[in-house]
Amino acid sequence: MSSVFRANLLAGQHAIITGAGSGINKRIAERFAMQGARISIIGRNADKCAAAAAEIRALGGEADGFAADVREADALAAAFEAACERFGPVDICIAGAAGNFVAEAAAMSANAFRTVIDIDLIGTFNTFRAALPLLRTARANLLAVSAVQSSMPTAAQAHVCAAKAGIEMLVRTLSIEWAARGVRCNAIAPGPVADTEGMKRLAPGGDSSWTRLLAGIPMRRAAERDEIADLALFLCSGAASYINGTVVTIDGGQSNLGSQPFGDMLLDSLQSA
Ligand code: COA
Repeated sequence: MSSVFRANLLAGQHAIITGAGSGINKRIAERFAMQGARISIIGRNADKCAAAAAEIRALGGEADGFAADVREADALAAAFEAACERFGPVDICIAGAAGNFVAEAAAMSANAFRTVIDIDLIGTFNTFRAALPLLRTARANLLAVSAVQSSMPTAAQAHVCAAKAGIEMLVRTLSIEWAARGVRCNAIAPGPVADTEGMKRLAPGGDSSWTRLLAGIPMRRAAERDEIADLALFLCSGAASYINGTVVTIDGGQSNLGSQPFGDMLLDSLQSA
């Protein structure tokens, strides 16, 4: 795990991160812990949360896991309360929990579409809403994990495109409503990230899917999880103290080429499945 940042940017701060049992959010949790933050990991799967927290403790950080589904506002609020009893008021809250599957809209039920809207968009609202009364507002930061699908209409991703676009408007609106409370609210929009559950789902055809996916990215590679974690760290640190209501894209230039190569690959993967 490497970082361009010096240690202790977040000394003594309490960061709550949803969906941090694996993938990008887990790496963000690890990175923040190494910068001195106390980490609360919230996710649906209690064992995954506990295991991720134990890994951070093994590295010398402070962390604990709290099980809750971001779709269930009351259970999520209870998990936030428990986390704050353990580590104090919230300085940083990252809404990272997400769901995805590859399907054409014509093959989706209303419940299938709603499930991703519920996890991603409603889950982000529930997360930030649960954090609000518990924030140490003098320096609080909210960060949503969006994706390039928010601005790149992508075949077989209608549910995700809609959910992520909604998240970004939510973030921009909260950045207006909650700034007077001392809260900054931003989002990151990654493209493909290596070694994540999302990419396993989005490149199901193995090497040939990857080759086609990478051909649609000017830098010809996916992001490393560390690169996403460093961006999250920057936005949640004092180094970004005047950045509010912004969505930072981190995609190696993918969105400048457009989504057609990505969408075509996903449609082909559905046909060959
Ligand atoms: N194509 C079409 N519909 C699908 C589908 C697919 N590939 N996968 C799931 N669905 C539908 C289900 O059929 C169901 O609809 P129905 O009730 O009309 O049959 C609906 O989506 C909900 O599925 P279910 O499995 O009950 O939801 P869940 O809450 O258990 O799981 C998911 C949520 C579907 C998003 C699941 O993929 C998940 O848990 N993902 C979390 C991890 C993840 O996606 N990580 C990557 C983040 S980028």
